Amino acid sequence: MQQRIPPGFIQDLLARADIVEVVGQYVELKKTGTNYKGLCPFHGEKTPSFTVSASKQFYHCFGCGAHGTAIGFLMEHAGMGFVDAVKELARRYGMTVPEPDLDPQQLRQIQQQRSLQATLVDALQTADGFYQHRLRHSERAKNYLIARGLQGQVAKKFGLGYAPDDWQPLAGAFANYNADALVQSGLVVARDAAGDTLDPQAESFASAQRRYDRLRDRITFPIRNLRGEVIGFGGRIIDQSEPKYLNSPETAVFHKGEELYGLFEARSAISRAGYALVVEGYMDVVALAQFGVEQAVATLGTACTAQQLQKLFRHTGQVVFSFDGDTAGRRAARRAMEQALPLLSDTRVVKFLFLPAEHDPDSYVREKGAEAFEREIGRAQPLSEFLFSSLFDGVAMTTAEGRAQAIHEAGPLLSQITAPALLGQLVADLARRLEMPATELREVLRLSSPSRKPSAPAESFGMRGMKTAPRVRGGREALRAFAAVPKDPLRQLLPLLLSQPELWWSINPAQHALLSLEPGPLQGLVLTLESILEDQPELSAAALWEALRAAGHAPEEVLAESPDPLELDEAAAKQDLLAILSRLERATLKRRQDELVAGGLVADADRTEYRSLALRLKEIDQAPRG
Ligand code: UTP
Ligand code: MN
Repeated sequence: MQQRIPPGFIQDLLARADIVEVVGQYVELKKTGTNYKGLCPFHGEKTPSFTVSASKQFYHCFGCGAHGTAIGFLMEHAGMGFVDAVKELARRYGMTVPEPDLDPQQLRQIQQQRSLQATLVDALQTADGFYQHRLRHSERAKNYLIARGLQGQVAKKFGLGYAPDDWQPLAGAFANYNADALVQSGLVVARDAAGDTLDPQAESFASAQRRYDRLRDRITFPIRNLRGEVIGFGGRIIDQSEPKYLNSPETAVFHKGEELYGLFEARSAISRAGYALVVEGYMDVVALAQFGVEQAVATLGTACTAQQLQKLFRHTGQVVFSFDGDTAGRRAARRAMEQALPLLSDTRVVKFLFLPAEHDPDSYVREKGAEAFEREIGRAQPLSEFLFSSLFDGVAMTTAEGRAQAIHEAGPLLSQITAPALLGQLVADLARRLEMPATELREVLRLSSPSRKPSAPAESFGMRGMKTAPRVRGGREALRAFAAVPKDPLRQLLPLLLSQPELWWSINPAQHALLSLEPGPLQGLVLTLESILEDQPELSAAALWEALRAAGHAPEEVLAESPDPLELDEAAAKQDLLAILSRLERATLKRRQDELVAGGLVADADRTEYRSLALRLKEIDQAPRG
């Protein structure tokens, strides 16, 4: 999707837009020095640590590490996708997003898809209005909700409705009950002569013999997208029949694995609370909201997918999953953990809450109240704790065999984690529990983690020309990187380059080579940065940022750990940069020397090279500081 907007347009847009103005519409900003400050909209705080820089066109929060451009702000704050954020920003500044270079047929397809989606949303919203109206006139449905303790106000907020107990109630809401859109939106089920249900996404419904409403005698829960449009429904049966819940099928506007029930309604509560709570059921979301716990969303009858989790992480850095305390709950938690591992970063937190076996959030909050529930949330297990407890579950940790098994199982899990500091902590923690030195554990894990293609070793000094490297991620890469983390020079250097790209040109070609050859999890980012800047030397910090993101990198993770990327003046930044580069060169020379020594220094050439390395090292050490 991202590639479809020409990069040149993004640059023009970021040059025209003013981040102070954009952010200022949502956050009260005060000028302090060269920057603007305000209360961070991404986490609750009482003293402002949210800074907006007009000169760099960035925002940064020292409290929670949120960071980005005007486009990023709209994505994070308004929960828009990249393309929508670009369009929105363009609209505000009177610019038109150029149509992508598509052939006429592709263009026609996209237009058709868009108009189909608009038609389906239209139908769904009409049905929504109809269901809500019918709820007001159905004693049976109202009594059911009253019996479950639901207040009218909350029912209204979530747009609860009632689908009457009949075959074609929606015939009363639509002029043409046979319209394709009713089947395509999942509102109506069509069956052919053989009695088979037709796929709502089928090409034609000509073979349909019988049509009837999908939801009958059910309480309806409209599922909304982030624009607030109704894209599907959940329906709970009023009596005891099966299935208890019926959801919309997959349609052109509804994708179960990507949507979260209640996210539209929960957005601002999530940013106030500083976390999102993921529960299992529609009723849980609604009941919690009634008791003031408004930051809850529900997956739609399935385990939380990576896409859903990623969507949540656009709104908050912390996700708390709530599960039933039984074995099914723990199994679901294990699946959620596996989805979460690759998505974690050093600033993202995932927690697990296990309620007493007899409860779901709905029953718990009704019986014990919101305070008790929030206390439970406060006691939720961090992912690390849950990870260890599931590793050690049923394993005799007092025996060598038991500990070996735990290590064996830890490998594949830990190798999914790309967040360096988190991984470091987990390895250290695990080592402590296994009563073995962390260095040794790291060694063992590196050997027993699933084999992946190692990155090309930086063997020759002259090797260059890798224009775009794939993003380095996961597994042994991350474990190896972890070993180098405390002094990873790229992690110190990138914040400087990202906030002042012009510094790139004060680095000489030999130093460029050093940078792009430095192995580690950031190598891919450095190579991409290099090729972007070589193509577009004048790129602003904000435009560089978006170009990196468009290439699949996460520059914000680099900045999250740097102290104050917006405050550095140019001279200081340059000095820091050169100091880091000489440290980097030193490390590289040393590494090469070690290699030569390991080779036994038998060849003349090796000895000559060793001596010249030693000379260069001496030069570096004697160079005047600063
Ligand atoms: P539960 O069976 O735990 O129901 O399903 P619940 O949420 O507690 O519902 P109430 O309180 O009895 O009304 C949890 C979720 O799983 C999905 C629904 O999303 C439901 O909210 N589900 C459940 C289905 O999709 N179909 C079903 O038949 C049952
Ligand atoms: Mn329930």
